[in-house]
Amino acid sequence: MNIRGRKPIIAGNWKLNKLAAEVAPFAAELRSALPAERGCDVVICAPFPLIPAVRESGAALNLGVGAQDVSEHEKGAYTGEVSAAQLFEFGVRYCIVGHSERRSYHGETDFMVNEKAKALLANAITPIICVGESLEQRLRGLTRELVEYQIAAAFSGIPAEAAAACVVAYEPLWAIGTGNTATTGQAQEVCADIRSALARIYDAETAARIRVLYGGSMNAGNACDLLAQPDIDGGLIGGASLKPADFAKIIAATAPAQRDAHE
Ligand code: PGA
Repeated sequence: MNIRGRKPIIAGNWKLNKLAAEVAPFAAELRSALPAERGCDVVICAPFPLIPAVRESGAALNLGVGAQDVSEHEKGAYTGEVSAAQLFEFGVRYCIVGHSERRSYHGETDFMVNEKAKALLANAITPIICVGESLEQRLRGLTRELVEYQIAAAFSGIPAEAAAACVVAYEPLWAIGTGNTATTGQAQEVCADIRSALARIYDAETAARIRVLYGGSMNAGNACDLLAQPDIDGGLIGGASLKPADFAKIIAATAPAQRDAHE
């Protein structure tokens, strides 16, 4: 548990990278680089065809199996879509929804994000709901309003108990894949705003249970400072999750926050 009693999550977002044949070598390297004890959940969100390999190679490491998208539909004439029930059947227990790349390149709207989160919750899969502002929105001072709206839309119609099981990832668009990480102050401020918004929608107790991650150029060098922030309960990691040594360092960086909590 971290300082606020929430178990951190370090989730890798592999995006459109790797082949199934690369998963076992990745897991072997990660295993040798991982700290002996870890107090966080570790998840790999892989492309659909790699999910069986992640499940198989990750089992000994207790890796959570994640997907990067899901259909909002249960079944029917939706060519190319994958349902939450199908993901569950393959061992998927986490799924990213509303990633900015899906919002920008695939027209995913806030309402679709909401429907997808509901479909996942109905199938016992933890949604990792992504929110975040563009550089222009930040420069115009719209970050708080935008992120609060994204949160309100994503959680609409989701009851408190189900909401408490969700994970939110704050990912400023200008920080994703750019090497421009948000400062710890910027990241903490928005993650705290997200928690306040959740407290207004639900109540303080529910908001205190929801894990809020930071994502956007998190790496082995900056993870410690980010993860030490009181409202940052882990990370959604793109580029650095492809390299086992770097990913292991980020996982190890969750330890100081836990040690502080025990002092
Ligand atoms: P990045 O990606 O760590 O490569 O910036 C994060 C994400 O898009 O989830």
